[in-house]
Formats: sequence, C-alpha cells, structure tokens
Amino acid sequence: QCSLTGRWVNDLGSNMTIKTVNANGNFMGIYNTSVSATTKKIMASPLLGSQHLPNQLNHPTFGFTVHWTFSDSITVFTGQCFVDDDGKEVLKTMWLLRTHADKRGDDWKATRVGYNEFKRLE
Ligand code: BTN
Repeated sequence: QCSLTGRWVNDLGSNMTIKTVNANGNFMGIYNTSVSATTKKIMASPLLGSQHLPNQLNHPTFGFTVHWTFSDSITVFTGQCFVDDDGKEVLKTMWLLRTHADKRGDDWKATRVGYNEFKRLE
C-alpha cells in the first residue's frame, strides 16, 4: 500500500495514472483534470513526481508537477498517503496552480491554492 503506482480519482472527478515508481521514488504519469480555470479544451497532461518509498516509511509523503499542455499554467501538488478506516489508501494533497501573468503587476493574482483528496480507482 501507498506506492503511488496506479489510477486515482479526486473529489473534483479528476483522475491520474501514475506509472512505475522507480527505486529512487521517482515517477511519471498522466493527469486528466475535470475542471479548468481557462476556457480552453481540456487535454490529458503529463506529470512528474517523487515519493518517499512506502517500504522505508509508513504513510509516505510525495510531490508532483503537472505541466498542462492546453494552458500556460503549471500545478504543483504535495501530499501524503494515508490508509483510511476501511483499509483504503487516500492521498491528502494541497496544490498551487500558477497561471500565466502577462505583466509583473499581475503577479499578485496569478497563484491559486487548494486541497484535493484522491482515492484509488479499483
Ligand atoms: C488550467 O486551468 O490552466 C489547468 C488545469 C488546472 C486544474 C486544477 S489543478 C488543481 C485542481 N485539481 C484538479 O484536479 N484540477 C484543478
């Protein structure tokens, strides 16, 4: 449990697929968001991340970056894997979504913050 490899869905209905987590804890995957801050057509986007290995640590922490292919934005997620009372893995995350500011004076409004909870797609 708590290796991030596999398919996950969050409370917004977004899903992600994480490929093999390597021996160093590094991984790649694909993120399909169900929502967007833009009006552009949503497309699957690559993610790149790293986790502490579950065989060395219970409830490992992790982080990953999503490079949105359909917008000028980047999201970074950081979180921790827990096991709930039913024995199911749950990823508790926070994220920062950086949108593109056309000028320095707009920097103050360019970063959104939020929470997402992911469960494994069976
Ligand atoms: C964009 O709007 O420029 C790209 C898509 C951003 C989707 C965000 S990332 C944080 C939150 N969690 C999701 O699953 N989707 C939104």
